[in-house]
Amino acid sequence: MHALSEAAARDGSIQSRRAMHGKNTLQIGLFGPNCSSGRAVTLVPERWSGNWPDNRRLAQMSDEAGIDFLLPIGRWKGYGGDTDYQGTTLETITWATGLLASTKRITVFGTVHAPIFNPVVAAKEMVTAGHIGEGRFGLNIVVGWNEGEFDMFGVAQREHADRYDYAEEWIDVIKMIWSDREDFDFKGRYLDMKGIRGKPKPFGGAGTRPVIMNAGSSPAGQAFAVRNCDAFFLQASRTSLDDTAQRVRNAQAAARAQGCEIGCYTVGVVTCRPTRKEAEEYFQHITVERADWRAVDGILALKNISPQTVPMQDYVLKRSQYAQGMGGLPIVGDPDHVAAQLADLSKAGLTGIAISLVNYIDELPYFVDEVCGRLERMGLREKVKPNDV
Ligand SMILES: Cc1cc2nc3c(=O)[nH]c(=O)nc-3n(C[C@H](O)[C@H](O)[C@H](O)COP(=O)(O)O)c2cc1C
Repeated sequence: MHALSEAAARDGSIQSRRAMHGKNTLQIGLFGPNCSSGRAVTLVPERWSGNWPDNRRLAQMSDEAGIDFLLPIGRWKGYGGDTDYQGTTLETITWATGLLASTKRITVFGTVHAPIFNPVVAAKEMVTAGHIGEGRFGLNIVVGWNEGEFDMFGVAQREHADRYDYAEEWIDVIKMIWSDREDFDFKGRYLDMKGIRGKPKPFGGAGTRPVIMNAGSSPAGQAFAVRNCDAFFLQASRTSLDDTAQRVRNAQAAARAQGCEIGCYTVGVVTCRPTRKEAEEYFQHITVERADWRAVDGILALKNISPQTVPMQDYVLKRSQYAQGMGGLPIVGDPDHVAAQLADLSKAGLTGIAISLVNYIDELPYFVDEVCGRLERMGLREKVKPNDV
């Protein structure tokens, strides 16, 4: 292992974790590979398997290529349709742990539904993953939105604002377990726990912890994120870079008002081909001609979006946005175009982006060579040296 990266990998500081143990101005992650179909609601046969051998191979390829992080989706039930979209998913903390043991440099997140994971168990699982990955485990806290998933656990979903109040208690206890406190009691509005103890402490010792992210889009969700997290995922505007920049500034100002610093990230759906025409044709094929429209309609129904509940124009727009990648920003074009769009997002103040590809393994090498190569030449990413991993 290269001396520098060895030092970075062993540095358990929160600064190093927030930088994903690297120096990239624009961090790039892969979103959704633990799920069948990834994030592409499509029928095409090359859609993502989501199985373990493919995930392990993808993680190792990503590690070697300098991709900064892997972000899974905590999904307990699929969405049906002709493909049972995201119907088969690997549980995210155990998935991350396996991948951390198989890689050297990349950060791997677990996406944890606070209401269904006991905090004492979750704290220890995450510490275990962190030790195996030498400080490369990250936590995505989610409170859940899909009632059917909660019914399966026999857990009642709380009112929306209460979900984030609960999550705040949940992460407070976990942070205490990760600190040097021992044998403490916790009595909050929801949790009443006695004689709490958790050892070992996080990799790097008490006082450090995994990097934490959240992607709430409601005011309650955003307020939770800026108070409790290192990284906040927001939706980039599809029409105006200034709007995206404003969203970033708002989140950062809200964090600073709480005495915190937050990095802002977004979600993108990348289709990159040698020519713009090829990219657009493939995108059209995946997201229109061969979309799994029955699954798209199932997702919209879960979110209570129908011609009966929203104006027809909004319904048609939402339907096509979900088919294009669950609301992520579509970035479609040749390498110059894709790299330029990513550079613009960096200019808007984003720290990073989590992208999805229809078939991650097939498409990653071209993306890394052509798009990451351009971003390196623009000074937004560092070139990976072969001995870095
Ligand atoms: C990058 C990203 C990752 C997310 N991951 C999950 C997930 O794995 N499981 C889940 O149930 N929700 C997930 N969500 C949904 C959010 O956590 C959140 O519930 C949603 O944006 C609605 O916001 P709200 O909770 O503030 O209403 C994700 C959203 C984004 C943008």
